Amino acid sequence: MRSTPDASFVRADGRPVRVVPGFRERVLGYRSSVTPRPEWTPEEYARAADKKLKRARRLVAAVERRHGRLDRSAVLDVGCGDGINCLAMADLAKARVVGADLRLPLCEATEAGAQARRLAGLVLAQLGDTQHASVRFTRADATTLPFPGGSFDVLLSRSALEHIVPVERALAEMARVVRPGGVIHHAVDPFYWLRGCHKRGVVDIPWAHARLSLEDFDRFVTEREGAAVAAQRRGRLQTLNRLTLAEWRAAIAAGPFDILEWTEEPSPFAAQLLEENPDVIDTLAHGVEPRDLVIGRLEFWLRVRKS
Ligand SMILES: C[S@@+](CC[C@H](N)C(=O)[O-])C[C@H]1O[C@@H](n2cnc3c(N)ncnc32)[C@H](O)[C@@H]1O
Repeated sequence: MRSTPDASFVRADGRPVRVVPGFRERVLGYRSSVTPRPEWTPEEYARAADKKLKRARRLVAAVERRHGRLDRSAVLDVGCGDGINCLAMADLAKARVVGADLRLPLCEATEAGAQARRLAGLVLAQLGDTQHASVRFTRADATTLPFPGGSFDVLLSRSALEHIVPVERALAEMARVVRPGGVIHHAVDPFYWLRGCHKRGVVDIPWAHARLSLEDFDRFVTEREGAAVAAQRRGRLQTLNRLTLAEWRAAIAAGPFDILEWTEEPSPFAAQLLEENPDVIDTLAHGVEPRDLVIGRLEFWLRVRKS
């Protein structure tokens, strides 16, 4: 990766941060997505379906290790997205699964809906006889879940909690709809790691989202890509829960849960980029710690306390 000595951007507080041409491209090229695109080939669909099914199998095994057999248990997947985990869980574990999300692409008459159905179809074809699987989808906001208290034995949310605001309300709702003693599992993309700002937040300043204020970020993108793109990129950052790892831990500790497991998984790719750009550490936003930059996945398992 090349950078010129004069390629820097000066923050409103007067501190320069280095611009590294090609950084965004490198970060985004690092791993392939499992969300279908219009130009995807049948091979790309098949690869994504395999990946999704493998993940779903791992998830079922992980849940059963903590909860016991899921057979006929009531499971809620919050922020279920394409619903593939729900379909797989209902089939593989014979659980009664509900998928809840603001948007349900599987049920939408849109191009994204057709793509989601095609991918789900490929996964279902590998699962075999799904006829008797019990799965239901509902449009719902995680901060006001439309279920009576104690409706579920298990609640999951994968790559969703970082999007759901306010997170404290969502956590309280989740604790309410799971029976005391039930299990909750979250997997979170923490905001401050390399890609935690999601695709739109990645620019040619390494970890800009952990070093620039929203105003500085907007000014940087406006200078290079214009105001419209800047508004899009900034808007994306604003929709995400911008919590450090310590803040996640505090938010969970404040809820009515016992923490069964807490795993912070480092990303070797992020660690390597940080080694190449050591100056990043000198200009971190208040409260952000170096470990926030490299922990690519936060996963935790909770048990809802019996009061
Ligand atoms: C990145 S996707 C993850 C989807 C799925 N869990 C997966 O692992 O593929 C995040 C999902 O969270 C949903 N979401 C965001 N805010 C939500 C809210 N307030 N209530 C319910 N779902 C929400 C989005 O619609 C989106 O489908």
